Amino acid sequence: MKYFLDSAKIDEIREAYETFGIDGVTTNPNHIMNSGKPFLTVLGELADFVKEKGIEGWEKFPISVEINPHLDDADEMVKMGTEIAAMCPNFVIKIPCTQAGITAARRLEKQGVRTNVTLVFTPSQALLPAKNGSLFVSPFIGWKESGGEDCEQYIQDIVDIYANFGYLGKTEIICAAVRTGKQITDCAVAGADIVTAGLQVFKDSFYHPFTDYGLAKFQAAWDKTITE
Ligand code: E4P
Repeated sequence: MKYFLDSAKIDEIREAYETFGIDGVTTNPNHIMNSGKPFLTVLGELADFVKEKGIEGWEKFPISVEINPHLDDADEMVKMGTEIAAMCPNFVIKIPCTQAGITAARRLEKQGVRTNVTLVFTPSQALLPAKNGSLFVSPFIGWKESGGEDCEQYIQDIVDIYANFGYLGKTEIICAAVRTGKQITDCAVAGADIVTAGLQVFKDSFYHPFTDYGLAKFQAAWDKTITE
């Protein structure tokens, strides 16, 4: 399963790439706002980062960039998506799962711009993006589970539906807004392609107190052992 970092902060992206070998990045308007920088400045930093690392191209390191969320017309969405995609070969255009968004994603894919259909909350919403050839679909997990829903079956249903119709591997499933190690595990068990989460979620996901306990125990043993 691939790990994407959900962030627009270049220092976090750099750390996650260098320490965990993340496979890509997802951003959204919230992340851009939280970076404290102008939209175009952030896009410039992301474009410079992939050049510096020699990972240019969406095939090597996809970076999802969301269009202006106020747009509700497919023509305008296509225009903005085309402009953003021209800025860096890694940019994948993130588009909401609305009627205009589905239309725009379909048209962008036809003209060779890769898309990520986002704000997906049901298996039925995940169907059309795959049918229309989007590169990614982003079903959200954390928001639903915060509201008391259990998402295991929801993720499994999307994976099963994609398997039924040959979409697996063509449209990759990014489980989004992942908040916990349990959710990462649920996505992996279901066979989702990717999880996207914040840096701290990934750091917390491999922490276990028994690892620290075991390490201390083995350090004590090492200290009482002749090692020369
Ligand atoms: C997905 O691609 C979104 O960027 C993201 O996961 C949204 O969730 P969050 O900002 O609430 O974490």
